[in-house]
Amino acid sequence: MEAIILIGFMGAGKTTISQEVAKILDCQRVDMDDVLVERIGSISEFFKNHGEAAFRKHETNLLKEAINQSSVIATGGGVILQEENQDVLADKKVIYLKTNPDVLIDRIRNDEENIRPNATNKADSEIKELFYSRKNLYEKLAKITVETSHRCPQEIANEIIQQLA
Ligand code: S3P
Repeated sequence: MEAIILIGFMGAGKTTISQEVAKILDCQRVDMDDVLVERIGSISEFFKNHGEAAFRKHETNLLKEAINQSSVIATGGGVILQEENQDVLADKKVIYLKTNPDVLIDRIRNDEENIRPNATNKADSEIKELFYSRKNLYEKLAKITVETSHRCPQEIANEIIQQLA
């Protein structure tokens, strides 16, 4: 199986939906943020101590490792920023989880597990600005786009499988 890569902004549901898709397809799953935490420790601490650019290098290295595995990959929301990553993703099965920015903000604010250095301490207007600065990249890199705003993970996962078939 060729890797299936889920992209989308923070709060789009990449982790949850990757779990559902992997369950249906009975395949491996790579959660890039989880692997990065194993490698570099807390992402927010790493941003504080080493900066975002250093984080992006680890992220790119991991993407290149994961992309050839037969798995569903939940990326981090900023994976689309690096040109090198865009090249890696260009001819792959990339699925954009498209979500309304107000819904994203609600999910980010209600997520007590993840402290996100690019969102948690930002004003809603700054989060929206970041979203709109990335939107075109998500859209450009996607082979398939699936709306996630007011839908449950199972429904979204089933649509992904149908669209891939
Ligand atoms: C980031 C998104 C996060 C994580 C890091 C940076 C971003 O992943 O990789 O905090 O810049 O969008 P999620 O999209 O899983 O929250």
